Amino acid sequence: MTGRADVAGTSAPVDGGVFADAWTGWPMRAFLRAGGLSREAVRRRPVIGICSSWSELNPCNMGLRGLAESVRRGVTAAGGTAVVFPTISLHEQFVAPTTMLLRNLMSMDVEEMIRCSPIDGVVLLAGCDKTVPAQLMGAASAGKPAIMLTAGPRCWARFRGEPLVTDDGWRLVAELIEGRLSAGEWDRLEDVFCAGTGVCNVMGTASTMAVLAEALGMALPGSAVVPAAQARRSDLAERTGVRAVELARAGTVPETVLTEAAFDNALRVLVAIGGSANAVIHLEAIARRLGLVLGLDRLQRISRQTPRVLAVRPSGTFSLEDFDEAGGVPALLRVLAPLLRREAVLADGRTVAEVAAAASGRPGPCLRPLAEPFEPDGGLVVLRGSLAPRGSIFKRSAAPARLWTHRGPALVFDDYRTALQRSLDPALRATPDTVLVVRNAGPAGAPGMPEIDVIPIPVSLRQAGVQDMVCVTDGRMSGTQPGAVALHVTPEAAAGGPIGLVRDGDEIVLDARRGVLDLLVDERVLARRASEPRPARPAPSRGYEALYVQHVLQADAGCDLDFLAGTPAATA
Ligand code: FES
Repeated sequence: MTGRADVAGTSAPVDGGVFADAWTGWPMRAFLRAGGLSREAVRRRPVIGICSSWSELNPCNMGLRGLAESVRRGVTAAGGTAVVFPTISLHEQFVAPTTMLLRNLMSMDVEEMIRCSPIDGVVLLAGCDKTVPAQLMGAASAGKPAIMLTAGPRCWARFRGEPLVTDDGWRLVAELIEGRLSAGEWDRLEDVFCAGTGVCNVMGTASTMAVLAEALGMALPGSAVVPAAQARRSDLAERTGVRAVELARAGTVPETVLTEAAFDNALRVLVAIGGSANAVIHLEAIARRLGLVLGLDRLQRISRQTPRVLAVRPSGTFSLEDFDEAGGVPALLRVLAPLLRREAVLADGRTVAEVAAAASGRPGPCLRPLAEPFEPDGGLVVLRGSLAPRGSIFKRSAAPARLWTHRGPALVFDDYRTALQRSLDPALRATPDTVLVVRNAGPAGAPGMPEIDVIPIPVSLRQAGVQDMVCVTDGRMSGTQPGAVALHVTPEAAAGGPIGLVRDGDEIVLDARRGVLDLLVDERVLARRASEPRPARPAPSRGYEALYVQHVLQADAGCDLDFLAGTPAATA
């Protein structure tokens, strides 16, 4: 294996060396030495790329720069050479209109940098929500040995004398809207809300994806929920560097790790922890990069068979630190072992069965045995029916039980911005039974499938004490947010889905126990509405956004771009 010819996606174990070849390696060695590497370092194998989503535009990921140095130490100690390279980084609050629009672009950046660079393997450094799936999608497609280390949750803050974590933000926004939080307190909240780097410190999308990366076998066992600020994370980084060298020497590519068994386990873990609904979309997208189709029927089956055994906020009252103290993901695997595909191999080379058997930790009240779960079923429910023919996701674990079954009249908002504006109108007519419908928030329609940050409960109802209402949307919701929301309604309004035909006052039925989301309107009436002209929304005409809208798949297919599915070998 010599020269750059070997960077075109080979999975062969390293032997000679891109940089070691006397002739073709010369310019690469010369340029690398400009960066301070020694004569010996540029000839060592394997060369491990450290793919970092560190950025000052991404505070959640700012700890990754330090972790990259720890990874480098591990790579060097194992006999390899490490080179750090940047990619696009996406922070949930900094990217407009939504990070989901750019997840696929980041995955393409990651894929091509791994594939086209003279590296034998890669360590993926991610944290904030979309950076984890984007890196996993890119690495799956690039086909070189890869292992991930996530940033870890940030430490807790304190506000008004009490601990403050990310999902408290939703409650405090509501208090501000209702006039129960003063301007001074709001200012003070800004001062303390983020007490350091690291990802949101509840089981939102970032931590859910970190847990799933571990369950999939792409991150070291025990790594997902170790706090960002703890020295244990540096230790994990060093061990990740060592393991990256071993994977590169063995030629272990993601395709051999990300098997159907690994995805089954990840889905089971997802519903057992009451994790973020966004992860359903991301897992589907990662799987399809390897030619696998998960599908919502699989999720529904697994969810019905899997008790929810973890109760970390927002799907419970406990913290990520409680989960870490209880043993983290290995302890969870021990609890779930009878339901898991135990032959799947995790990132340190052990099987799920071996990791589960060896799991230690002090079992805490946040993690219960299978026989005494928090709920007998999983935290996510697939809804289907005349309003969502191809499915919708309902995060039962974060919704009040009294709204798991509901029937009420629709109040329709044609986009999220309008929903927020109209919800502040004291004259807006609604009752606690009203079903709030927020549409044109899907992958193609928004575009980019933004999150419903605040459920648009009319201010008059808020002031009367109403804190929860059923909401139906073709968009997404933050994984940190609680609420009775039927999410990802597919097909979306922009793709001709029935959600685009709902009118104020139409009766809607949501039944999370039976998995139903129905619009109680006669089919002939819907057909007539469908034939009526609707205002056309201007389509983006250039650049990435135009490419995205032309090629994005619906939520049930992972919202990837259609031309990115499948392995390079399969699509050649
Ligand atoms: Fe980055 Fe929540 S905003 S993880």
